[in-house]
Amino acid sequence: MSFDYKVKDLGLAEAGRHQIRLAEHEMPGLMSLREEYGAAQPLKGAKIAGSLHMTVQTAVLIETLVALGAEVRWASCNIYSTQDEAAAAVVVGPKGTVEDPQGVPVFAWKGETLPEYWECTEQILTWPNGEGPNMILDDGGDATMLVHNGKAWEAAGQVPPTDEKDSEEVGVFKELVRKTLAADPQKWTKIAAGIKGVTEETTTGVHRLYELAQTGDLLFPAINVNDSVTKSKFDNKYGCRHSVLDGLNRATDVLIGGKVAVVAGYGDVGKGCAAALAGQGARVIVTEIDPICALQAAMDGFQVARLEDVLSIADIYVTSTGNFNIITADHMQQMKNKAIVSNIGHFDNEIDMAGLAKVPGVTKTEIKPQVHEWTFSNGNSIIVLSEGRLMNLGNATGHPSFVMSNSFANQTIAQIELFTKTDDYAKQVYVLPKHLDEKVARLHLDALGAKLTELTKEQAEYIGVDVAGPYKPDHYRY
Ligand code: NAI
Repeated sequence: MSFDYKVKDLGLAEAGRHQIRLAEHEMPGLMSLREEYGAAQPLKGAKIAGSLHMTVQTAVLIETLVALGAEVRWASCNIYSTQDEAAAAVVVGPKGTVEDPQGVPVFAWKGETLPEYWECTEQILTWPNGEGPNMILDDGGDATMLVHNGKAWEAAGQVPPTDEKDSEEVGVFKELVRKTLAADPQKWTKIAAGIKGVTEETTTGVHRLYELAQTGDLLFPAINVNDSVTKSKFDNKYGCRHSVLDGLNRATDVLIGGKVAVVAGYGDVGKGCAAALAGQGARVIVTEIDPICALQAAMDGFQVARLEDVLSIADIYVTSTGNFNIITADHMQQMKNKAIVSNIGHFDNEIDMAGLAKVPGVTKTEIKPQVHEWTFSNGNSIIVLSEGRLMNLGNATGHPSFVMSNSFANQTIAQIELFTKTDDYAKQVYVLPKHLDEKVARLHLDALGAKLTELTKEQAEYIGVDVAGPYKPDHYRY
């Protein structure tokens, strides 16, 4: 079998395969979906374009989608998050060899440039015979955005001219769309027409989808995987509780105990980060704009303050807001010498990296890849992780397998749902029904030795639920 792909080095495949094998053991949700649906092949005929961090855990997701019958093309949704050995192993496939790869076309390597990033995203949306995918599996919404903006700009007759206010990212994105439209003026209309739906992984991507749905611009139905309880209340929280420390440790190895750490944003991700840093003995300060989350932080024992007021005392910063301009160039110049500045939110604009580069007299020294010291003219310096991109994937390997098994079981179920029941869904954003959320949780209990109590029929009647669930109304918040 020959197919196109672009990864760093297929020679890494064996190392990747060993890691995938161990990850499978830690991903009971995905493995039981393979068992449950393997014979029925519900994804037969699905052509899935996946844009999601190309890690070992994602490799298990990809091979689950294939085991359920899908054809898949994959790119990473961040320039630093690929684990090259996982990408190589997925291309080679469980049965292939380096000389004769039998796996899945992957277009991803750690350290892509921005133009390369968007070319990889275009590659997953462009199948060999010029056709497009019929499903998207997205993380952060970049693949979905390419189809939507491509089609909108196609209809308008041109890509809007590059504006000097455009970020580098936007400039590069417009350039790619310009190039694709020059090659085929109807490319995105054709691709959009073939897509049955998208399943979206993260808070930031979901936010974009609701905006599109609200303006009536959503081109196909979407399932918001992020807001399955077994996704956001687990991956965002417990996943980050693990991987924020992994990122900090691998990048800097500073002792966290006793330091002052600022967590910007006390949503699901912020809650996990604050708990982890506090667990290491850091004095954690939270910044919030939402009074409910601010009160939660206070009741969890954290000081709630404004960033401006703690710049002179904080040693470590982690942004987790999904918002932009949280840490400005001005803030960074007022920080303590050697303060560590990092972001764990989806996009890199939480920290104003462009502004930092423009500070007069500032210099940048690479300590090691994805760890940079920025020195100001007064001699003080700060350490910035992953150039402001999500540090748990840029400086470490993202969340561990067990928590991703929950997220990716939701992804797999959502793909089956949209692909097999397309007509049941309008061009809106949906969450999976609660019984499926409960199913995902159930699939992970045995592995932890957790024994669930069963309701008696009388108890079930008393609280007004079915013995088999769902156990909570949709408005319950967990
Ligand atoms: P969330 O919406 O639950 O939390 C964000 C919090 O930030 C909210 O409570 C909001 O009030 C607060 N916030 C907004 N603007 C602020 C400001 N200017 N200052 C202080 N606080 C502010 O979102 P969630 O699920 O916690 O996700 C946060 C980001 O992390 C998103 O971009 C999401 O896509 C990303 N994410 C990253 C993961 C990773 O592995 N790195 C995993 C999961 C999500």
